[in-house]
Amino acid sequence: MSKPIYVLSGPNLNLLGQREPEIYGKETLDDVRRACELRAQALGRSIVFRQSNHEGDLIDWVQEAREAASALVINPAGYGHTSVALLDALKTLSIPIVECHLSNPAARETFRRHTYVSLAATGVVSGFGLASYELAVEAAAGKSR
Ligand code: DQA
Repeated sequence: MSKPIYVLSGPNLNLLGQREPEIYGKETLDDVRRACELRAQALGRSIVFRQSNHEGDLIDWVQEAREAASALVINPAGYGHTSVALLDALKTLSIPIVECHLSNPAARETFRRHTYVSLAATGVVSGFGLASYELAVEAAAGKSR
Protein backbone atom coordinates (compact mmCIF):
# COMPACT_ATOMS: atom_id res chain seq x y z
CA MET A 1 0.00 0.00 0.00
CA SER A 2 1.55 3.29 -1.04
CA LYS A 3 1.64 6.37 1.12
CA PRO A 4 -1.07 8.97 0.43
CA ILE A 5 -0.69 11.84 -2.00
CA TYR A 6 -0.87 15.08 -0.04
CA VAL A 7 -3.13 17.69 -1.69
CA LEU A 8 -2.60 21.10 -0.07
CA SER A 9 -4.45 24.33 -0.83
CA GLY A 10 -3.48 27.80 0.31
CA PRO A 11 -5.23 31.00 1.35
CA ASN A 12 -8.75 31.97 0.28
CA LEU A 13 -9.40 28.65 -1.41
CA ASN A 14 -11.81 27.83 1.42
CA LEU A 15 -14.07 30.38 -0.32
CA LEU A 16 -14.06 28.51 -3.61
CA GLY A 17 -17.46 28.80 -5.29
CA GLN A 18 -18.06 32.25 -3.77
CA ARG A 19 -14.75 33.92 -4.54
CA GLU A 20 -14.49 35.41 -8.07
CA PRO A 21 -16.41 32.47 -9.60
CA GLU A 22 -15.81 33.84 -13.10
CA ILE A 23 -12.10 33.12 -12.52
CA TYR A 24 -12.07 30.18 -10.10
CA GLY A 25 -15.34 28.43 -10.97
CA LYS A 26 -18.55 27.61 -9.13
CA GLU A 27 -17.36 24.42 -7.47
CA THR A 28 -16.60 24.47 -3.76
CA LEU A 29 -13.47 23.15 -2.06
CA ASP A 30 -15.55 20.16 -0.95
CA ASP A 31 -16.32 19.44 -4.62
CA VAL A 32 -12.57 19.61 -5.32
CA ARG A 33 -11.87 17.25 -2.43
CA ARG A 34 -14.41 14.71 -3.71
CA ALA A 35 -13.07 14.92 -7.27
CA CYS A 36 -9.51 14.34 -6.02
CA GLU A 37 -10.60 11.42 -3.84
CA LEU A 38 -12.40 9.78 -6.77
CA ARG A 39 -9.47 10.27 -9.14
CA ALA A 40 -7.03 8.89 -6.58
CA GLN A 41 -9.31 5.93 -5.85
CA ALA A 42 -9.59 5.11 -9.57
CA LEU A 43 -5.79 4.97 -9.62
CA GLY A 44 -5.63 2.77 -6.52
CA ARG A 45 -4.25 5.61 -4.42
CA SER A 46 -5.37 7.69 -1.45
CA ILE A 47 -5.09 11.38 -0.60
CA VAL A 48 -4.73 13.64 2.40
CA PHE A 49 -6.59 16.86 1.51
CA ARG A 50 -6.02 20.05 3.51
CA GLN A 51 -6.48 23.81 3.16
CA SER A 52 -5.18 26.67 5.26
CA ASN A 53 -5.09 30.44 5.12
CA HIS A 54 -1.87 30.37 7.17
CA GLU A 55 1.59 30.10 5.68
CA GLY A 56 2.98 28.25 8.71
CA ASP A 57 0.33 25.53 8.45
CA LEU A 58 1.27 24.89 4.84
CA ILE A 59 4.96 24.73 5.77
CA ASP A 60 4.23 22.31 8.63
CA TRP A 61 2.24 20.06 6.27
CA VAL A 62 4.97 20.15 3.63
CA GLN A 63 7.46 19.06 6.31
CA GLU A 64 5.04 16.32 7.42
CA ALA A 65 4.85 15.14 3.79
CA ARG A 66 8.61 14.41 3.84
CA GLU A 67 7.88 11.15 5.68
CA ALA A 68 4.13 10.66 5.29
CA ALA A 69 3.45 11.24 1.57
CA SER A 70 4.33 9.52 -1.70
CA ALA A 71 3.85 12.79 -3.65
CA LEU A 72 2.60 16.31 -3.07
CA VAL A 73 0.05 18.40 -4.98
CA ILE A 74 0.01 22.02 -3.91
CA ASN A 75 -2.10 25.00 -4.92
CA PRO A 76 -0.17 27.64 -2.98
CA ALA A 77 -2.64 30.37 -4.05
CA GLY A 78 -1.25 33.84 -3.21
CA TYR A 79 1.68 32.39 -1.23
CA GLY A 80 3.07 30.95 -4.45
CA HIS A 81 3.88 34.47 -5.56
CA THR A 82 5.36 35.62 -2.24
CA SER A 83 6.68 32.85 -0.02
CA VAL A 84 10.37 32.02 -0.01
CA ALA A 85 9.70 30.09 3.22
CA LEU A 86 7.28 27.77 1.42
CA LEU A 87 9.82 27.27 -1.37
CA ASP A 88 12.49 26.43 1.21
CA ALA A 89 10.18 23.83 2.77
CA LEU A 90 9.36 22.31 -0.62
CA LYS A 91 13.06 22.04 -1.42
CA THR A 92 13.48 19.63 1.51
CA LEU A 93 11.22 17.07 -0.21
CA SER A 94 12.52 14.21 -2.30
CA ILE A 95 9.04 13.17 -3.54
CA PRO A 96 7.37 14.52 -6.72
CA ILE A 97 5.73 17.95 -6.33
CA VAL A 98 2.91 19.04 -8.64
CA GLU A 99 2.02 22.74 -8.50
CA CYS A 100 -1.61 23.30 -9.33
CA HIS A 101 -3.73 26.37 -10.13
CA LEU A 102 -7.41 26.62 -11.02
CA SER A 103 -6.79 29.66 -13.23
CA ASN A 104 -3.88 30.22 -15.58
CA PRO A 105 -1.75 32.74 -13.66
CA ALA A 106 0.48 33.32 -16.72
CA ALA A 107 -2.50 34.86 -18.54
CA ARG A 108 -3.39 37.25 -15.70
CA GLU A 109 -1.69 40.17 -13.92
CA THR A 110 2.09 40.29 -14.35
CA PHE A 111 2.71 39.71 -10.61
CA ARG A 112 1.10 36.27 -10.98
CA ARG A 113 3.57 35.18 -13.66
CA HIS A 114 6.22 34.31 -11.12
CA THR A 115 5.71 31.62 -8.49
CA TYR A 116 8.43 30.57 -6.09
CA VAL A 117 6.80 27.15 -5.89
CA SER A 118 7.62 26.47 -9.55
CA LEU A 119 11.31 26.47 -8.65
CA ALA A 120 10.74 23.31 -6.62
CA ALA A 121 7.93 21.73 -8.66
CA THR A 122 8.31 18.64 -10.79
CA GLY A 123 5.57 20.09 -13.01
CA VAL A 124 2.69 22.55 -13.07
CA VAL A 125 -1.00 22.16 -14.01
CA SER A 126 -2.98 25.37 -14.39
CA GLY A 127 -6.02 26.83 -16.09
CA PHE A 128 -8.46 23.93 -15.99
CA GLY A 129 -10.51 24.80 -12.92
CA LEU A 130 -11.39 21.80 -10.76
CA ALA A 131 -9.87 19.55 -13.42
CA SER A 132 -6.45 21.09 -12.67
CA TYR A 133 -6.56 19.30 -9.31
CA GLU A 134 -7.68 15.99 -10.88
CA LEU A 135 -4.92 16.20 -13.46
CA ALA A 136 -2.41 17.11 -10.77
CA VAL A 137 -3.41 14.07 -8.67
CA GLU A 138 -3.05 11.90 -11.76
CA ALA A 139 0.38 13.35 -12.53
CA ALA A 140 1.46 12.92 -8.90
CA ALA A 141 0.28 9.29 -8.94
CA GLY A 142 2.08 8.65 -12.21
CA LYS A 143 5.33 10.02 -10.82
CA SER A 144 5.25 8.06 -7.54
CA ARG A 145 4.45 4.64 -6.10
C1 DQA B 1 -4.54 30.52 -7.81
C2 DQA B 1 -3.88 31.65 -8.61
C3 DQA B 1 -3.19 32.63 -7.70
O1 DQA B 1 -2.60 33.68 -8.45
C4 DQA B 1 -4.17 33.24 -6.72
O2 DQA B 1 -3.50 34.07 -5.80
C5 DQA B 1 -5.01 32.23 -6.03
C6 DQA B 1 -5.47 31.05 -6.75
C7 DQA B 1 -5.36 29.57 -8.72
O3 DQA B 1 -5.69 28.50 -8.25
O4 DQA B 1 -5.67 29.92 -9.85
O5 DQA B 1 -5.40 32.42 -4.88
O6 DQA B 1 -3.51 29.75 -7.20
